[in-house]
Amino acid sequence: MENKNFGYFDDKNREFVITNPATPFPWINYLGNEDFFGLISNTAGGYDFYKDAKFRRITRYRYNGVPMDNGGRYFYINDNGTVWNPGWKPCKTPLDFYECRHGMNYTRITGSKNGIEASVLFFVPLKTWAEIQKVTLKNTTSEKKTIKLFSFAEWCLWNAATDMENFQRNWSTGEVEIDGATIYHKTEYKERRNHYAYYTVTNAKIDGYDTDRESFIGLYNEFADPQCVMAGKPSNSLAHGWSPIASHYIEVELAPGESKDYIFMLGYVENAQEEKFSAEDIERKKNGTLISSQDSDVTLVNKAKAKALIEKFSTVEAVDAAFAELAQMWDALLDKYVVKSDDERLNRMVNIWSQYQCMITFNFSRSASFFESGVGRGMGFRDSNQDLVGFVHQIPSRARERIIDIASTQFPDGGCYHQYQPLTKHGNNDIGGGFNDDPCWLIFGTVAYIKETGDFSILQEPVPFDNEPGTEVTLMEHLRISFNHVVENLGPHMLPLIGRADWNDCLNLNCFSWDPNESFQTTENNSEGSKAESLMIAGLFVVTGKDYVELCKQIGDNAEADRAQKCIDSMVEAVKKHGWDGEWYLRAYDFYGNKIGSNECEEGKIFIESQGFCTMAGIGLEEGMVDKAIDSCKKYLDCEHGMVLNNPAYTTYHVEMGEISSYPAGYKENAGIFCHNNPWVIIGETVAGRGNDAWELFRKISPMYLKDQALHKVEPYVNCQMVAGKDAAKPGEGKNSWLTGTAAWMWLTVSQYLLGIKPTYDGIMIDPCLDSEIKEYSVKRILRGTEYDITVKNPNGNQKGVKSITVDGVAIEGNIIKATPGKHVVEVVM
Ligand code: BGC
Ligand code: NOJ
Repeated sequence: MENKNFGYFDDKNREFVITNPATPFPWINYLGNEDFFGLISNTAGGYDFYKDAKFRRITRYRYNGVPMDNGGRYFYINDNGTVWNPGWKPCKTPLDFYECRHGMNYTRITGSKNGIEASVLFFVPLKTWAEIQKVTLKNTTSEKKTIKLFSFAEWCLWNAATDMENFQRNWSTGEVEIDGATIYHKTEYKERRNHYAYYTVTNAKIDGYDTDRESFIGLYNEFADPQCVMAGKPSNSLAHGWSPIASHYIEVELAPGESKDYIFMLGYVENAQEEKFSAEDIERKKNGTLISSQDSDVTLVNKAKAKALIEKFSTVEAVDAAFAELAQMWDALLDKYVVKSDDERLNRMVNIWSQYQCMITFNFSRSASFFESGVGRGMGFRDSNQDLVGFVHQIPSRARERIIDIASTQFPDGGCYHQYQPLTKHGNNDIGGGFNDDPCWLIFGTVAYIKETGDFSILQEPVPFDNEPGTEVTLMEHLRISFNHVVENLGPHMLPLIGRADWNDCLNLNCFSWDPNESFQTTENNSEGSKAESLMIAGLFVVTGKDYVELCKQIGDNAEADRAQKCIDSMVEAVKKHGWDGEWYLRAYDFYGNKIGSNECEEGKIFIESQGFCTMAGIGLEEGMVDKAIDSCKKYLDCEHGMVLNNPAYTTYHVEMGEISSYPAGYKENAGIFCHNNPWVIIGETVAGRGNDAWELFRKISPMYLKDQALHKVEPYVNCQMVAGKDAAKPGEGKNSWLTGTAAWMWLTVSQYLLGIKPTYDGIMIDPCLDSEIKEYSVKRILRGTEYDITVKNPNGNQKGVKSITVDGVAIEGNIIKATPGKHVVEVVM
């Protein structure tokens, strides 16, 4: 049976079920899907934040701890001296039963020990700034049981970066309030912050609490043996500075067979300046029903919003209803594209996990995962544009908003901030710009949005430059300057200048860094007089440029379409003339104009990105370049786990190439299997009609087909950014799971290019590219309110080419089904 060591897929419930808590790495899930978010591992590790994992970190988490995943939302049970956690960690007391079910924006962890079963459901209700933890305790014995339940959360002092470095300040600022079962965290609230957090039990009284970490855990104890839990007694501590925490203590009595639900809620509130403080609580502080760590009465937080939410979720029925609503949202989201085929792994990927991962990457870009600490990287310009292509069919209105946010950070010359912060939506100055592929991706994202929605009005939206009010031009104008940015930045071979780097952040051809204290990404570039050109941008420009031309025609601007087409034609010529190495496309020219990714090079003779984008663009298709390039990829880049980024790997540092040559061979951008760019080759293979090759590579990259989950190490239900390549010490070992452009590209590849159901301006294009073994499948696709029930038959085992299509029994010409309202039955024969 597959996944037998650590877990299995439960497709009916859309869950991955982990049965052994000691997974090869923490296997995580994401809670929340707008504004309030949580990361949660299979042992309940992780943290919460509001919108921005750097500026509004709510609970504290220490990355790269020992053991690996330490700290989270922990429930401790002290059952007559036996102390254990439902999620096994941190106590690691052996459990009689353990199971973690990661589902769509929720996680349910169940553990049992000595006749007590404890199940915790973690989720964030829709449109709610709080995480709910529904704890169900059940006595499965025939004796009465009395147990002690402790909760635990550790507050982060809001800014996740300073929280882990500025202790001379941090250890003096922490402040809390305790009001019944609710513990409020209000550090810095009395001065510039308009927000506080709270942790509460909504449906029960508590029998004690702790808010000071050392009082609860003990200076010489650990998460695994907090002194209060071990002693079976809270200390009712009041935090003054140091590290404020929130822990509730409840004595639970359970009759034989009885089960009780406790609803814990961890929330976040923002108050307007004039409503920050509470007059009513002053009285309560005086009579001792409210406890504050500050003497001053005027600093008591206004709890109205927290209390309203606590009230709202004070019953099990209300919580269950909110949980049902979340499931309904996912029913609807996952109903837009549903495949039925003989291959359950394909169905599982397309119908559940790929779409789920696309939502997650859309929400987080590259900010917060167990590999991204949430402090360094906000929303990537190119990343977010790619992510939204995987997400746009789910909630188009959010994709629309995102496009405007991204475009608003662009500069008047078409250049872009490489990243922006989700909280402020402003460009991130620490990272800056100058990555010359960035502008192209805005065209890529916008076109996908319009094809999905038919909403051309977005092109007329006024969008500023660098968020500067008064500078607004239309979004269409932003697209024009994006296109022009490439045209206006050509090098000696009339190929695009690379700038700081292109899609490959580590191909730093103008950086020349000898100082280990500087970042390859941000150090001053030496681009004056540079001849560094990128074939990846050339291919990307042709792909997205064609989209731009088509868009111009759609809106009736034929003159602009003609002008743009000429630029594309020249680019195609330049690639054929200066970008072809004989058996494959070159990767780049360096600062001095020397070739990169050529047979003439000693290492790095061939790179995947230019093969992917130039074949996708169909450059030199008639001359046989596309086929040759794919053959070369198969010959030099392919291995058991997918295609590596470059070959041979670099074994020494090349100052003229930058970070790429800093990585050991076989890892990351130096000949790792960078999953993100494998789909580009798969799509290139579909352009060449090579279905068998395309599906073979697809199955290597999709985690659903994984053979060895222990080797793969990271979550087997989502893609990771990189799998160690053939030159690495452990080929096949995955790293950097979840937040990767692989998600959107795998979705695009399987939904539009393999299964071949593509939204177009007029309706739907049917253009599958199949493994000759695939004889039949069906897809339900809802586009702009119209439902298409499409059956594809491939009786002769063809790889490409549609022979006939009928719509509601009537044969049509060509392979585009015009959008007409209603529900249509479509039969396709290959
Ligand atoms: C990584 C890249 C990443 C970049 C972003 C590099 O160290 O290798 O994958 O895009 O950092 O800052
Ligand atoms: C990760 C970055 O988020 C993405 O933008 C980049 O394209 C890849 N690394 C490759 O360097």
